[in-house]
Amino acid sequence: MTSNAHASGRRAVKAVIPAAGLATRFLPATKAVPKELLPVVDRPVLQYIVEEAAAAGLTDVLLVTGRGKTSMVDHFDRRPDVEDRLEKKGDLERLAAVRRTSELADIYTVRQGEALGLGHAVGTAAAHVGDQPFAVLLGDEFVELDKPLLPAMIDLQARTGGIVLALGEVKPEETSRYGIASVEPSDLADDAVEVTGLVEKPAPDEAPSNLAVLGRYILPASIFEAIATTKPGSGGEIQLTDAMAQLLADGVPVHAIVYRGHRYDTGMPLGYLQTVVMLAAARDDLGEEFRSWLAEFVAGGAKG
Ligand code: G1P
Repeated sequence: MTSNAHASGRRAVKAVIPAAGLATRFLPATKAVPKELLPVVDRPVLQYIVEEAAAAGLTDVLLVTGRGKTSMVDHFDRRPDVEDRLEKKGDLERLAAVRRTSELADIYTVRQGEALGLGHAVGTAAAHVGDQPFAVLLGDEFVELDKPLLPAMIDLQARTGGIVLALGEVKPEETSRYGIASVEPSDLADDAVEVTGLVEKPAPDEAPSNLAVLGRYILPASIFEAIATTKPGSGGEIQLTDAMAQLLADGVPVHAIVYRGHRYDTGMPLGYLQTVVMLAAARDDLGEEFRSWLAEFVAGGAKG
Protein backbone atom coordinates (compact mmCIF):
# COMPACT_ATOMS: atom_id res chain seq x y z
CA MET A 1 0.00 0.00 0.00
CA THR A 2 1.43 3.42 -0.88
CA SER A 3 1.40 6.25 1.59
CA ASN A 4 -1.03 8.20 -0.55
CA ALA A 5 -3.74 5.56 -0.20
CA HIS A 6 -4.38 7.01 3.27
CA ALA A 7 -3.89 10.68 2.54
CA SER A 8 -6.95 12.89 2.80
CA GLY A 9 -5.00 16.10 2.31
CA ARG A 10 -6.61 17.47 5.49
CA ARG A 11 -4.28 19.14 7.92
CA ALA A 12 -4.45 18.69 11.65
CA VAL A 13 -6.02 21.77 13.25
CA LYS A 14 -6.82 20.49 16.73
CA ALA A 15 -4.40 19.74 19.54
CA VAL A 16 -4.96 17.36 22.44
CA ILE A 17 -2.88 17.78 25.58
CA PRO A 18 -3.14 14.83 27.99
CA ALA A 19 -2.71 16.40 31.42
CA ALA A 20 -4.63 14.22 33.84
CA GLY A 21 -1.61 12.41 35.31
CA LEU A 22 -0.89 12.28 39.02
CA ALA A 23 2.73 13.50 38.69
CA THR A 24 4.04 11.23 41.42
CA ARG A 25 7.65 12.15 40.53
CA PHE A 26 7.00 15.67 41.82
CA LEU A 27 5.24 14.91 45.09
CA PRO A 28 4.62 16.62 47.43
CA ALA A 29 4.71 19.74 45.16
CA THR A 30 1.94 18.26 43.02
CA LYS A 31 -0.47 17.34 45.84
CA ALA A 32 -2.51 20.47 45.14
CA VAL A 33 -0.75 22.08 42.15
CA PRO A 34 -0.87 20.33 38.76
CA LYS A 35 2.67 19.67 37.51
CA GLU A 36 1.66 21.39 34.26
CA LEU A 37 1.38 24.64 36.26
CA LEU A 38 4.87 24.50 37.78
CA PRO A 39 6.54 27.75 36.75
CA VAL A 40 9.43 27.99 34.32
CA VAL A 41 10.69 31.51 35.10
CA ASP A 42 7.33 33.34 34.96
CA ARG A 43 5.06 31.07 32.93
CA PRO A 44 3.72 27.62 33.70
CA VAL A 45 5.03 24.68 31.67
CA LEU A 46 1.59 24.29 30.08
CA GLN A 47 1.72 27.80 28.62
CA TYR A 48 4.92 26.98 26.70
CA ILE A 49 3.11 23.95 25.28
CA VAL A 50 -0.02 25.87 24.27
CA GLU A 51 2.25 28.56 22.74
CA GLU A 52 4.02 25.85 20.71
CA ALA A 53 0.65 24.55 19.48
CA ALA A 54 -0.69 28.02 18.67
CA ALA A 55 2.50 28.95 16.79
CA ALA A 56 1.86 25.93 14.54
CA GLY A 57 -1.73 27.04 13.87
CA LEU A 58 -3.29 24.62 16.38
CA THR A 59 -5.56 27.04 18.22
CA ASP A 60 -8.26 24.50 19.13
CA VAL A 61 -6.77 22.89 22.22
CA LEU A 62 -8.38 20.11 24.21
CA LEU A 63 -6.95 19.58 27.69
CA VAL A 64 -7.50 16.10 29.10
CA THR A 65 -7.83 16.85 32.79
CA GLY A 66 -8.56 15.00 35.98
CA ARG A 67 -9.50 15.60 39.59
CA GLY A 68 -7.80 18.58 41.25
CA LYS A 69 -6.53 19.98 37.96
CA THR A 70 -9.15 22.56 36.97
CA SER A 71 -6.75 25.42 37.81
CA MET A 72 -5.02 24.56 34.51
CA VAL A 73 -8.09 25.82 32.70
CA ASP A 74 -8.24 29.00 34.83
CA HIS A 75 -4.78 29.90 33.60
CA PHE A 76 -6.15 30.42 30.09
CA ASP A 77 -9.22 32.36 31.23
CA ARG A 78 -9.58 36.16 31.46
CA ARG A 79 -8.78 37.82 34.82
CA PRO A 80 -10.64 41.17 34.60
CA ASP A 81 -9.84 42.06 38.24
CA VAL A 82 -6.09 41.59 37.73
CA GLU A 83 -6.23 43.29 34.32
CA ASP A 84 -8.02 46.34 35.84
CA ARG A 85 -5.41 46.63 38.56
CA LEU A 86 -2.52 46.46 36.08
CA GLU A 87 -4.22 48.96 33.78
CA LYS A 88 -4.69 51.44 36.68
CA LYS A 89 -1.04 51.00 37.66
CA GLY A 90 0.02 51.56 34.06
CA ASP A 91 1.90 48.24 34.02
CA LEU A 92 1.15 47.62 30.37
CA GLU A 93 3.81 44.95 29.88
CA ARG A 94 2.34 42.68 32.57
CA LEU A 95 -1.16 43.51 31.38
CA ALA A 96 -0.28 42.28 27.89
CA ALA A 97 1.32 39.13 29.35
CA VAL A 98 -1.79 38.36 31.42
CA ARG A 99 -4.17 38.99 28.51
CA ARG A 100 -2.05 36.94 26.13
CA THR A 101 -2.71 33.72 28.03
CA SER A 102 -6.45 34.02 27.32
CA GLU A 103 -5.92 34.91 23.68
CA LEU A 104 -3.53 32.11 22.70
CA ALA A 105 -6.07 29.43 21.87
CA ASP A 106 -9.62 28.19 22.37
CA ILE A 107 -9.33 25.85 25.33
CA TYR A 108 -11.72 22.89 25.73
CA THR A 109 -11.61 20.20 28.37
CA VAL A 110 -12.56 16.59 28.80
CA ARG A 111 -12.13 14.51 31.93
CA GLN A 112 -10.19 11.30 32.15
CA GLY A 113 -12.01 9.77 35.12
CA GLU A 114 -9.31 7.21 35.84
CA ALA A 115 -5.59 7.34 35.03
CA LEU A 116 -5.53 4.24 32.82
CA GLY A 117 -2.64 5.30 30.57
CA LEU A 118 -1.69 7.67 27.76
CA GLY A 119 -3.62 5.71 25.13
CA HIS A 120 -6.74 5.89 27.29
CA ALA A 121 -6.22 9.64 27.83
CA VAL A 122 -6.01 10.24 24.07
CA GLY A 123 -9.11 8.06 23.62
CA THR A 124 -11.16 10.52 25.70
CA ALA A 125 -10.63 13.09 22.91
CA ALA A 126 -12.58 11.08 20.29
CA ALA A 127 -15.84 13.06 20.39
CA HIS A 128 -14.06 16.45 20.30
CA VAL A 129 -11.69 15.48 17.49
CA GLY A 130 -14.20 13.73 15.22
CA ASP A 131 -12.88 12.26 11.98
CA GLN A 132 -9.93 14.56 11.31
CA PRO A 133 -6.21 14.17 11.92
CA PHE A 134 -5.05 15.86 15.14
CA ALA A 135 -1.96 16.60 17.17
CA VAL A 136 -1.08 15.26 20.62
CA LEU A 137 1.31 17.29 22.76
CA LEU A 138 2.39 15.74 26.05
CA GLY A 139 2.00 18.16 28.93
CA ASP A 140 5.51 18.04 30.35
CA GLU A 141 7.86 18.64 27.43
CA PHE A 142 8.37 21.29 24.79
CA VAL A 143 10.91 22.24 22.17
CA GLU A 144 12.80 25.40 21.30
CA LEU A 145 10.37 28.02 20.00
CA ASP A 146 12.72 29.01 17.18
CA LYS A 147 13.31 25.39 16.12
CA PRO A 148 9.70 24.22 15.88
CA LEU A 149 8.81 20.64 15.22
CA LEU A 150 5.06 20.68 14.65
CA PRO A 151 4.87 22.47 11.25
CA ALA A 152 7.00 19.84 9.49
CA MET A 153 5.06 17.05 11.24
CA ILE A 154 1.68 18.50 10.22
CA ASP A 155 2.84 18.95 6.60
CA LEU A 156 4.10 15.39 6.40
CA GLN A 157 0.93 13.95 7.94
CA ALA A 158 -1.26 15.81 5.42
CA ARG A 159 0.75 14.07 2.68
CA THR A 160 0.75 10.53 4.10
CA GLY A 161 -2.57 10.50 5.98
CA GLY A 162 -0.90 8.21 8.50
CA ILE A 163 0.92 8.70 11.78
CA VAL A 164 3.77 11.19 12.12
CA LEU A 165 5.99 11.05 15.19
CA ALA A 166 8.96 13.00 16.45
CA LEU A 167 12.06 11.05 17.42
CA GLY A 168 15.13 12.05 19.40
CA GLU A 169 18.28 10.15 20.24
CA VAL A 170 18.58 9.07 23.86
CA LYS A 171 21.39 7.32 25.73
CA PRO A 172 21.18 3.53 25.26
CA GLU A 173 20.58 3.06 29.00
CA GLU A 174 17.52 5.36 28.85
CA THR A 175 15.39 3.32 26.42
CA SER A 176 13.21 1.95 29.23
CA ARG A 177 11.79 5.46 29.82
CA TYR A 178 10.44 5.89 26.26
CA GLY A 179 8.63 4.45 23.29
CA ILE A 180 11.41 3.31 20.95
CA ALA A 181 11.19 3.11 17.15
CA SER A 182 12.97 1.07 14.50
CA VAL A 183 13.36 3.11 11.33
CA GLU A 184 14.39 3.13 7.70
CA PRO A 185 15.43 6.09 5.56
CA SER A 186 12.72 8.17 3.89
CA ASP A 187 13.02 10.93 1.33
CA LEU A 188 9.59 12.42 2.03
CA ALA A 189 10.98 15.40 3.96
CA ASP A 190 14.17 16.70 5.57
CA ASP A 191 15.04 14.60 8.62
CA ALA A 192 12.13 12.24 7.87
CA VAL A 193 12.36 8.49 8.49
CA GLU A 194 9.91 5.67 7.96
CA VAL A 195 8.98 3.88 11.18
CA THR A 196 8.96 0.11 10.85
CA GLY A 197 8.42 -0.88 14.47
CA LEU A 198 7.39 0.61 17.83
CA VAL A 199 7.85 -0.74 21.33
CA GLU A 200 6.99 0.91 24.64
CA LYS A 201 9.75 1.21 27.24
CA PRO A 202 12.01 -1.68 26.19
CA ALA A 203 15.00 -2.70 28.33
CA PRO A 204 18.27 -1.51 26.70
CA ASP A 205 19.14 -5.03 25.48
CA GLU A 206 15.72 -5.37 23.81
CA ALA A 207 15.52 -1.89 22.28
CA PRO A 208 15.56 -1.85 18.46
CA SER A 209 17.41 1.52 18.45
CA ASN A 210 18.10 4.51 20.67
CA LEU A 211 15.52 6.66 18.85
CA ALA A 212 12.88 7.68 21.38
CA VAL A 213 9.35 8.83 20.66
CA LEU A 214 9.12 12.45 21.85
CA GLY A 215 5.89 13.89 23.19
CA ARG A 216 4.55 15.21 19.86
CA TYR A 217 2.31 13.12 17.60
CA ILE A 218 0.14 13.81 14.55
CA LEU A 219 -2.45 11.04 14.41
CA PRO A 220 -5.24 10.01 12.06
CA ALA A 221 -8.72 9.60 13.61
CA SER A 222 -8.43 5.83 13.10
CA ILE A 223 -6.25 5.80 16.24
CA PHE A 224 -9.46 5.93 18.31
CA GLU A 225 -10.64 2.52 17.07
CA ALA A 226 -7.17 1.11 17.71
CA ILE A 227 -7.14 2.53 21.26
CA ALA A 228 -10.57 1.02 21.94
CA THR A 229 -9.17 -2.47 21.27
CA THR A 230 -5.76 -1.97 22.93
CA LYS A 231 -5.19 -4.12 26.00
CA PRO A 232 -3.15 -2.86 28.96
CA GLY A 233 0.57 -3.07 28.17
CA SER A 234 3.73 -1.66 29.80
CA GLY A 235 3.03 -0.71 33.44
CA GLY A 236 -0.48 -2.22 33.18
CA GLU A 237 -1.60 0.90 31.24
CA ILE A 238 -3.36 1.34 27.89
CA GLN A 239 -0.42 2.60 25.87
CA LEU A 240 -0.63 4.96 22.89
CA THR A 241 2.48 3.24 21.50
CA ASP A 242 0.64 -0.10 21.39
CA ALA A 243 -2.35 1.42 19.57
CA MET A 244 0.02 3.02 17.04
CA ALA A 245 1.83 -0.30 16.58
CA GLN A 246 -1.55 -1.85 15.79
CA LEU A 247 -2.21 0.71 13.03
CA LEU A 248 1.33 0.13 11.70
CA ALA A 249 0.59 -3.60 11.51
CA ASP A 250 -2.67 -2.78 9.67
CA GLY A 251 -0.68 -0.97 6.96
CA VAL A 252 -1.12 2.64 8.08
CA PRO A 253 2.02 4.60 7.09
CA VAL A 254 4.09 5.73 10.06
CA HIS A 255 6.82 8.33 9.64
CA ALA A 256 8.82 10.49 11.96
CA ILE A 257 10.85 13.66 11.94
CA VAL A 258 14.14 13.27 13.77
CA TYR A 259 14.42 16.35 15.96
CA ARG A 260 17.84 17.97 16.19
CA GLY A 261 16.97 20.88 18.49
CA HIS A 262 16.77 20.88 22.28
CA ARG A 263 13.84 19.26 24.01
CA TYR A 264 12.94 20.61 27.43
CA ASP A 265 11.74 17.74 29.57
CA THR A 266 10.09 19.02 32.73
CA GLY A 267 8.60 15.67 33.74
CA MET A 268 11.26 14.98 36.36
CA PRO A 269 12.90 17.27 38.93
CA LEU A 270 16.36 17.29 37.25
CA GLY A 271 15.02 18.05 33.75
CA TYR A 272 12.69 20.66 35.24
CA LEU A 273 15.56 22.43 36.99
CA GLN A 274 17.69 22.33 33.82
CA THR A 275 14.78 23.83 31.86
CA VAL A 276 14.34 26.66 34.35
CA VAL A 277 18.08 27.47 34.29
CA MET A 278 18.35 27.34 30.47
CA LEU A 279 15.30 29.49 29.85
CA ALA A 280 16.16 31.97 32.60
CA ALA A 281 19.68 32.34 31.16
CA ALA A 282 18.21 33.01 27.70
CA ARG A 283 15.79 35.74 28.84
CA ASP A 284 16.30 39.27 27.55
CA ASP A 285 15.13 40.86 30.79
CA LEU A 286 16.96 38.90 33.49
CA GLY A 287 19.31 36.59 31.56
CA GLU A 288 22.45 38.68 31.88
CA GLU A 289 22.20 39.12 35.64
CA PHE A 290 21.20 35.48 36.12
CA ARG A 291 24.10 34.16 34.01
CA SER A 292 26.67 36.19 35.89
CA TRP A 293 25.24 35.08 39.26
CA LEU A 294 25.20 31.46 38.04
CA ALA A 295 28.83 31.63 36.86
CA GLU A 296 29.90 32.97 40.27
CA PHE A 297 27.82 30.37 42.08
CA VAL A 298 29.38 27.53 40.10
CA ALA A 299 32.92 28.98 40.39
CA GLY A 300 32.42 29.16 44.15
CA GLY A 301 31.76 25.43 44.32
CA ALA A 302 27.99 25.81 43.82
CA LYS A 303 27.23 25.96 47.54
CA GLY A 304 24.35 28.07 48.82
C1 G1P B 1 5.13 8.64 27.18
C2 G1P B 1 4.99 7.62 26.06
C3 G1P B 1 6.36 7.23 25.51
C4 G1P B 1 7.10 8.47 25.08
C5 G1P B 1 7.21 9.46 26.24
C6 G1P B 1 7.83 10.77 25.79
O1 G1P B 1 5.71 8.01 28.30
O2 G1P B 1 4.28 6.48 26.54
O3 G1P B 1 6.20 6.35 24.43
O4 G1P B 1 8.40 8.12 24.62
O5 G1P B 1 5.91 9.76 26.78
O6 G1P B 1 8.06 11.62 26.88
P1 G1P B 1 5.59 8.64 29.80
O7 G1P B 1 6.62 9.72 29.87
O8 G1P B 1 4.21 9.15 29.93
O9 G1P B 1 5.90 7.50 30.72
